[in-house]
Amino acid sequence: MKATIRIKRFNPEVDRRPYWAEYEVPVDPFDRVLDALHYIKANLDGSLALRRSCAHGICGSDAMLINGRNRLACKVLIKDLGPRITVEPLRGLRVIKDLVVDMEPFFEKYRQVMPWLITDEPPPPQERRQTPEERARYEDTTKCILCAVCTTACPIFWGTGEFLGPAALVAAHRFIFDSRDQAAQQRLQILADRSGVFKCRTVFNCTEACPQGIEITKAIQELKQAIILSRT
Ligand code: SF4
Ligand code: FES
Repeated sequence: MKATIRIKRFNPEVDRRPYWAEYEVPVDPFDRVLDALHYIKANLDGSLALRRSCAHGICGSDAMLINGRNRLACKVLIKDLGPRITVEPLRGLRVIKDLVVDMEPFFEKYRQVMPWLITDEPPPPQERRQTPEERARYEDTTKCILCAVCTTACPIFWGTGEFLGPAALVAAHRFIFDSRDQAAQQRLQILADRSGVFKCRTVFNCTEACPQGIEITKAIQELKQAIILSRT
């Protein structure tokens, strides 16, 4: 079958504004959108810029807007979209070229929550042990692949450059509820700031969009609760 792939193109070095380009691509219904984009780049227009690495839903680098929804191009099958498909870069981040956006502001917010293990305990001879229950406490938020799908689907993030955004909150949750970590209070203080967790208006866009199925809104609610409990 053939599919028409409509792509929002923009090269800030030569274009005054973004424009739509259409490509007719021979596809199998079980091809992914990423396969169609590869076909275009290899056979129809080598100037198309996109980012991808693993092609298997693990690295998070091929997040884009597909038929109006934030998705990973390597996880969406053509058969689930039909023969006309629109592809745009993620919203809320500067377009470097075509489907490639500047992820630095996203990672800058991620780094603000200190997404690493912080402890004064000297390293044990082997691993730092946890019970299965302790591990289960933050299991869901360990699944994040930092694709930015959630943060760039969030209207609060679009509206204010200040908000840390769902992905940074997911990263904070992963460490705050880790029994081996000792910096929960420090992180909760960062999240209690006006750019933090209380900016969330529980719109659910993030949870709906996450390709890893993380219950982001639930994690954010748990963070809000932890801040309130830490004040009592
Ligand atoms: S929480 Fe989900 S949508 Fe957000 S960055 Fe992580 S994997 Fe992507
Ligand atoms: S290319 Fe790695 S997640 Fe899609």
